[in-house]
Amino acid sequence: MTTKERYYLTTPIYYPSDNLHIGHAYTTTVADSLARWHRFAGREAYFVTGSDEHGQKIQRAAAAKGVTPKEYVDEIVASFKDLWERLNIKYDDFVRTTDERHHRAVQAVFQKIYAKGDIYKSAYEGWYCTPCETFWLENRLEDGNCPDCGRPVELVQEESYFFRISKYADRLLEHIEQHPEFIQPESRRNEMVNFIKSGLEDLCVSRTTFDWGIPVPNAEGHVIYVWFDALTNYLTALGYPEPTELMEKWWPADLHLVGKEIMRFHTIVWPIMLMALDLPLPKTVFGHGWLLSDSEKMSKSKGNVVDPLALIAEFGVDPIRYFLLREISFGQDGNFSRRALIERTNADLANDLGNLLNRTLSMLNRYFDGVVPEPAAALSEVDRDLINHANGLGAKVDDLIKDLKINEALASIWRLVGRANKYVDERAPWNLAKQEDKAELGTVMYNLLETLRIVALLVKSFIPETGAKIWAQLGLEDLDQNTLADTEWGRLTPGIQTRKGDPIFPRIEVEKEEPAPAPKKPEKPKASEEKAPGPEGVLIGIEDFMRCELVIAEVLEASRIQGADRLLKLQVDIGSEKRQIVAGIAQHYEPDDLVGKRIVVVKNLKPAKLRGELSQGMLLAATAPDGRLEVVSVSEAIPAGSRVK
Ligand code: MSP
Repeated sequence: MTTKERYYLTTPIYYPSDNLHIGHAYTTTVADSLARWHRFAGREAYFVTGSDEHGQKIQRAAAAKGVTPKEYVDEIVASFKDLWERLNIKYDDFVRTTDERHHRAVQAVFQKIYAKGDIYKSAYEGWYCTPCETFWLENRLEDGNCPDCGRPVELVQEESYFFRISKYADRLLEHIEQHPEFIQPESRRNEMVNFIKSGLEDLCVSRTTFDWGIPVPNAEGHVIYVWFDALTNYLTALGYPEPTELMEKWWPADLHLVGKEIMRFHTIVWPIMLMALDLPLPKTVFGHGWLLSDSEKMSKSKGNVVDPLALIAEFGVDPIRYFLLREISFGQDGNFSRRALIERTNADLANDLGNLLNRTLSMLNRYFDGVVPEPAAALSEVDRDLINHANGLGAKVDDLIKDLKINEALASIWRLVGRANKYVDERAPWNLAKQEDKAELGTVMYNLLETLRIVALLVKSFIPETGAKIWAQLGLEDLDQNTLADTEWGRLTPGIQTRKGDPIFPRIEVEKEEPAPAPKKPEKPKASEEKAPGPEGVLIGIEDFMRCELVIAEVLEASRIQGADRLLKLQVDIGSEKRQIVAGIAQHYEPDDLVGKRIVVVKNLKPAKLRGELSQGMLLAATAPDGRLEVVSVSEAIPAGSRVK
């Protein structure tokens, strides 16, 4: 039996000094997607995250709240785990630095390096940035502030233990040179090399002015420096210092995924700790860029921190995961904005992918009662082009993921989705359906369904709920038994009964602007324009108008939507069923004034989400000259469900 390739990957362990924001969710979503993909591709993966609970910052935050540090972190760490669950993050281990096993690991690391003579006692005098938990020499400060975060630093004068990292500088430079994959992306490698070449100072690795940390063995009053403590978590997860099977199997790590601001700790301090421990170095440390909020770094003081839980509640998990993975060029800074999220969701998920599934299954219901047809052997040029796009795509995505080109991997999957949508238009199944012989129609429908099956497999590591939904609508089972090899063309079995469901991504309507007040007196059209076509310059035939199904709906309930001052949510009866409609009329009507009214709604409008609420139709209203909106209604003589034409 051949052993599977292995992949150990980690995220930073986050500080429970505050709730996590979308930036933290970014790193963890990437790591989760990579772990899921590697498993799908037949590799074994081990994915570790956690919380960095010691240090001065946490001790102060707890004191400010009047609770013990442990009480303080317990509550926030529970919220971390809750967020990961809601984001569909499946980690293998969660290391808390307050875990007993972690204490043992950190003390063992300290002791080993001490015994080797690489930790010595001396006195420290210098500057300290508590928010970054970083020591700074005077000459590195910028305007007297922390060069990383720009905040004020504090003078520290303590007896401390020092780690002789200067001794390892040359060995580290040599390693970096010989292993170009060690520090990625390349721009950050150059930055780190320059930093090392500018001279490494020995690092202070203990503190005495507070006690919220792991004690230095046999040195009363000293706690271990929080970064020395935190970095060790990557070994704790494997049972270090015991010679465990986990250690044997997974070390060295394949990937430490971190934000660019903590590259120095991961590419200088951490590898030197490992060299001092005689352990091999991780294969890659990747420093990704920052997620900016409306082009600025997120921070509490700026008030631009984006809460992932609120976004998930409003848009669902997969739009958030997809946006993070697709929108940001991995490695570079990227911008988060509500508008960009909505646009991305509507374009890629609702229009391209959701619509492809919906229209394919609608046609299959119409032409083949929803059963997957047998494809014919004869293929047209266009059929072959679609198949060529799909075949081999799995291997291509695998290569991109192995190179950490995550947004490019998703783009390549969406090129197939785009190709399939174009294929529908090129092959026009509605025309083929007019032919006596249904073989060609069957082939086209099979090709579309097979493309969707492959797409479901390719996307499921990134947007797991969506992969599962497509799979279920295709009538397929045991999604998790499938591997990368199953993305080969032709594995869909004819005869399967599909199960078309609701659209997987209803379009999200961007809240409409207030209607502009109408001009006081509309200008009379010039004689030459009197018979001109309508405003769009297009005359429509009656058949065009009849495509729009207008019906009478009775308003059963109406209420406001919290946080959306223009919107009302209506429950209406349209005769055949009850529906929810969201309408931008809150500034013109009290909810109670609408109850009982018989209004006109567009029944066959694509469902959409507005501020997280599903809207299944649209009501008609007219604007008065003063800008007031009036909902079109009829008398009680007309029952709900009556067609308006
Ligand atoms: N506790 C340390 C890490 C110790 S690892 C041994 C720490 N914690 S943190 O809570 O500040 O998390 C920092 C990490 O969160 C970043 O490196 C990055 O992975 C992620 N991000 C936090 N804000 C971010 C953005 N605005 N954008 C992208 N990632 C962000 O540092």
